[in-house]
Amino acid sequence: MSPVLIRRVRLGAAFVLLTYLILHFINHALGLISLDATEAGRRWFLVMWRNPIGTLALYGAITVHGVLALWLLYQRRSLRMPAWEAAQYGLGLVLPALLAAHVVGTRIAWWQFGTEDRYPRVLLGYWVVAPERGIWQAITLTMAWIHACIGVHYWLRFRRWYPRVAAGLFAFALLLPTFALVGYVAGGREVVALARTPGWREALARVTHPPSPAQSATLVQIRLRFLEAYLVALVGVFAARGVRHLWQRRRSIRVLYPGERAVTVPVGFTILEASRTAGVPHASVCGGRGRCSTCRVRVVLGLTDLPTASEAEQRVLARVGAAPDVRLACQTRPVRDVAVAPLLAPSTAPTDALAADVRQGRERELAVLFADLRGFTRMAEHKLPYDVVFVLNRYFETVGTAITTAGGVTNQFTGDGVMALFGIDVGPAAGCRQALAAARAMVEGLATLSAELSGDLPAPLRIGIGIHAGSAVVGRMGWGQSFYLTAVGDTVHVAARLEQATKDYNAELVVSEDVGRYAAIDLSAFRRDDLAVRNRAGRVPVRIIARVTQLP
Ligand code: FES
Repeated sequence: MSPVLIRRVRLGAAFVLLTYLILHFINHALGLISLDATEAGRRWFLVMWRNPIGTLALYGAITVHGVLALWLLYQRRSLRMPAWEAAQYGLGLVLPALLAAHVVGTRIAWWQFGTEDRYPRVLLGYWVVAPERGIWQAITLTMAWIHACIGVHYWLRFRRWYPRVAAGLFAFALLLPTFALVGYVAGGREVVALARTPGWREALARVTHPPSPAQSATLVQIRLRFLEAYLVALVGVFAARGVRHLWQRRRSIRVLYPGERAVTVPVGFTILEASRTAGVPHASVCGGRGRCSTCRVRVVLGLTDLPTASEAEQRVLARVGAAPDVRLACQTRPVRDVAVAPLLAPSTAPTDALAADVRQGRERELAVLFADLRGFTRMAEHKLPYDVVFVLNRYFETVGTAITTAGGVTNQFTGDGVMALFGIDVGPAAGCRQALAAARAMVEGLATLSAELSGDLPAPLRIGIGIHAGSAVVGRMGWGQSFYLTAVGDTVHVAARLEQATKDYNAELVVSEDVGRYAAIDLSAFRRDDLAVRNRAGRVPVRIIARVTQLP
C-alpha cells in the first residue's frame, strides 16, 4: 500500500472515530438535563452505530486505525520524536487496553447475551458497584479526546485558514468534554440516589438482563484474550523493529550536514530520522508525514544516488516550487552517503508550511510600487518627535492597509517611503491591476487621514507613487530575526525612479507603459514621456497621472 493511501485510509478511520467520540460526549452531556434525556439520546446514538453499516464503519475504523498505527510504529526507524507526537503515540497505544473492559461490558455483552447497556445500568456499575472503574473510564475518555485533539490540531495547523478558526476549535475542544464529564457526574448522582430506592435495582435488572456469573466469566475471558492478543501484537512490532535494526546495522550510511557535522545511521533511515537520531535541529511541522514540506533539504552531494521521489513527495515539492536538488527529508531514505542542507529554520512556524520556496530567491514577473510622502521632512521639522511618529504610523497604517487589501505585500517602510510587491503568486497582469487599485486606495485613504488630522497638519498629506512591472528576483532576505520578503533587480530600480519622477511632473502617480499593458488598461489619455533612468541604457516610456482618481 502506498504511503498516501495509508494516510488517507488512516485519516478516514480517524474521522469515523472522532465522530463517534463527539456523539458519545454529546450523549453524556445530556445528563445535565436528566438521566432520561441521556437514555433517550443513547437510543438515537444506537440507531446510528448498531446497524450493520454503523457497526462495520465503527469496528472497521477501530481495526484499521489500530493496525495502521502498529504498522507505522514498525515503519519509523527512530523513536525520537517531538513531545506532542510522543504523547499522541503513547495515548494511542494504551487506549485499546483501557477501553477493552468498557467495550466488552457493553457492546459484546449485548451482542453475546442480550444485556441492555442502558445508561442507568452502566452508571450503576461506574458509580455504585465499582466507582474506581468509573473514575478510570472518565480518565480514559479524556485521554481518547486528547489523542483525537492532538491529531486534528497537527493535521490542520499548517492550513492557511486554521489560525482563523483555531480559537473556536479550542473552545469546542475544551467545552465538549467538560459538558460530557459534568453530564456524567449529574447522571451518576441521579443513579446513586435511585439505587437507594427499594426495588429499583431489581426492576433495572429485569429490563437489562445482566449477564449471569457464567456469562460474566466468559466476558472476562474475552477481555483477557483481547489484551493478550494486543500485547503480543505490540511486542511483535518491537521485536520486528529490533530484528530489522540488527539486520540493517550491517550496512550504514553517513548523512553530512553543514558545518562538517556527520551522522551515521543504518540504511533505511530517512534523512529526518537521521537528524532526530543525532539531535540535529530540523524543521518538521507535520511530524514527518510528508505534508508540510518544512523538512525540505537541498542535496549538496549524492543527489543521483537517492531513490526517486514518490509521487506524493513530488507533488509537495512542486507545490512549493522547490528546485530539482531539493527533497523532503522525511520521505527520503538514502542508500549511500549524502550531504544535505536543511532549507528552513528548525523553528519554522506552521504558517510557513507549503509556502512557496522563495527563501533561495526566484525570478518572478511582478509589479513593484514605491510611494513617498511629499514635503513631509519639511513639515516634520516644525513638529515634536512624538507627533512625527504618530502621523507616520497613521500614514503607514493607511497605505499598508490599502496595499494588503489590494493583494500586495508591504515590503519596506523607510522614513516616509514604502515599497510593495504585487503579483508574486498571481502573475504580473493581476499584480498590475492590484497595484493600480492599491494606488487609488492609498490616495483616498490619505485624503481621509488628512481630513482627520487637519487640526494638526499645516497642509493635507500628499503622496507620490511610482509603479513598474517586469521581472525581479524575489526571496526572503535578511539575517537573524529580520528576514522579510523582498525583490531586487532592474524592475525595482525603475519603480523607485518613477516614484521620484512624480515630484518633477507634480503628479500623484507615474506608471511605466508596461503596467498599462499588463493590466490591459488604456492609459493613452494620460501624458506620455520617455524617462531616463540612471545607470540604465534606454529610456522608460511612462504615463503621468496627475490625480489617481482620474484612472479608468
Ligand atoms: S516533516 Fe512535514 S513534509 Fe517532512
